[in-house]
Amino acid sequence: MNQDELKRAAADAALEYVVAGEIVGVGTGSTANHFIDGLAARRKDILGAVASSEASAQRLAGHGIRLFDLNEVDTMPVYVDGADEIDAGLSMIKGGGGALTREKIVAAVAERFVCICDASKRVAALGSFPLPVEVIPMARAHVARRLGALGGAPRLREGFVTDNGNLILDVHGLSIADPATFEAEIDHIAGVVSNGLFAIRGADVLLLAGSDGVECQLRS
Ligand code: 5RP
Repeated sequence: MNQDELKRAAADAALEYVVAGEIVGVGTGSTANHFIDGLAARRKDILGAVASSEASAQRLAGHGIRLFDLNEVDTMPVYVDGADEIDAGLSMIKGGGGALTREKIVAAVAERFVCICDASKRVAALGSFPLPVEVIPMARAHVARRLGALGGAPRLREGFVTDNGNLILDVHGLSIADPATFEAEIDHIAGVVSNGLFAIRGADVLLLAGSDGVECQLRS
């Protein structure tokens, strides 16, 4: 199977975690798109979905899946999304698609985070994938200096504006020893909206698709 087929296999496996009669939280990206397409066949079983981006909202709506505003939803059983990197403790780097802030917010309202990945996303240590940091535009230079002082090499994602009207700094050259501490440290920089480390609240379930099938790992 090629990488896209593996993404689809992980996404199909996540359909087992969708709870009938409930709202499902839906992530962003090519793996999440496979999940949305699979969810289409289940649209009459579920109440609807909360999307983590305008792109996912459009795709869900295109399948006739009812969309809920997150402010209308107290809780939901599951949030399903991909990742750019995931480690053995199910901490992740996300935000390659720039939707990290809404992803983190929707995931926070869900009882379980189910991460769907092809095997290439598994890493021993997070940081080879540049860490996305969403920043308020007027704080771009200040945040970049602070990220540099933390040992990273931030680069502005050219020509990109988030769904929230902000900018993304992609931080290169990191090797992240303690993801939860680093996540909190970056969040404390004035002007940072959120960062792509999902470690304080990582995944609860990983569905990792490889050549031998889809492996399921639970957060310990
Ligand atoms: C988007 C994300 C995605 O989950 C991440 O970039 C993985 O994308 P893909 O499924 O296309 O490999 O965090 O902001």
